[in-house]
Amino acid sequence: MNPQNANTEIQYTFKIFRFDPDVDSSPRYDTFVKTYPRGRTVLEALLNIHDTEDDSIAVRYSCRSAVCGSCGMLVNGAPVLACRTQLTNLIGDQVLIEPLPNMDIIRDMVVDMKPFWEAYRRVEPWLHVNGDRPEKERLQSHRQVSSLDPYVNCILCACCYGACPVVRFQEQYLGPAAIAKLFRFMQDSRDQRGPQFLEKMNNPQGLWGCHTIFRCVDACPKDIRPTDTIEALRRRLMVYKFKKLFRMV
Ligand code: SF4
Ligand code: SF4
Ligand code: FES
Repeated sequence: MNPQNANTEIQYTFKIFRFDPDVDSSPRYDTFVKTYPRGRTVLEALLNIHDTEDDSIAVRYSCRSAVCGSCGMLVNGAPVLACRTQLTNLIGDQVLIEPLPNMDIIRDMVVDMKPFWEAYRRVEPWLHVNGDRPEKERLQSHRQVSSLDPYVNCILCACCYGACPVVRFQEQYLGPAAIAKLFRFMQDSRDQRGPQFLEKMNNPQGLWGCHTIFRCVDACPKDIRPTDTIEALRRRLMVYKFKKLFRMV
């Protein structure tokens, strides 16, 4: 283990996943030994390795500040944003970098997020409002806005989607981010779609796919708790079904 006082440069061994499905018959891991000062992020290290060692390494990123959601990947087996993960916060000096699971690899750490976006589209992630557009904006109370606050910060990074063991075996499962987004809209006082909308998700590909394993909660860099939203929507659906059974709706 390296000493880690403020002025120390630390030597790390990076093992980086490499795979170009157009060229390679199987993945490999390339190793780079590099020394960095404290405060470097995994993304900065990757870009430095790209610039100084091998410019064919493929990484997706944009904001470098945990806003755009582009740089999700596995670091030492954990789904994280590379731009938000400091090397000094990792345990040890070995850094294993791999793409997010549950999605096809386009190249190296760049995955095809098509199934993630398709699931997202299935929940219709926009406000459903009836009637004509009002003359003024649709106002909400502070309390109504506060009830959305924990869920609006999703940056669609797919770290939760990559972490979910159900998505791995059940490709049609909506996954945690899409369901959390559905909750965000159904929780919105302006949304008028009503609990009957949840009947579309009354199946193992929807609300009942989750095994409540909480890996999405652990993975989320924005402290969103998708599992809680899945439970809440399940309850809402069951109340609706019950009321419907007894002709109360
Ligand atoms: S709690 Fe549900 S949605 Fe979240 S990772 Fe586990 S199975 Fe997937
Ligand atoms: S819920 Fe969290 S982990 Fe999932 S896509 Fe949104 S920000 Fe990323
Ligand atoms: S580069 Fe934008 S979230 Fe990491």
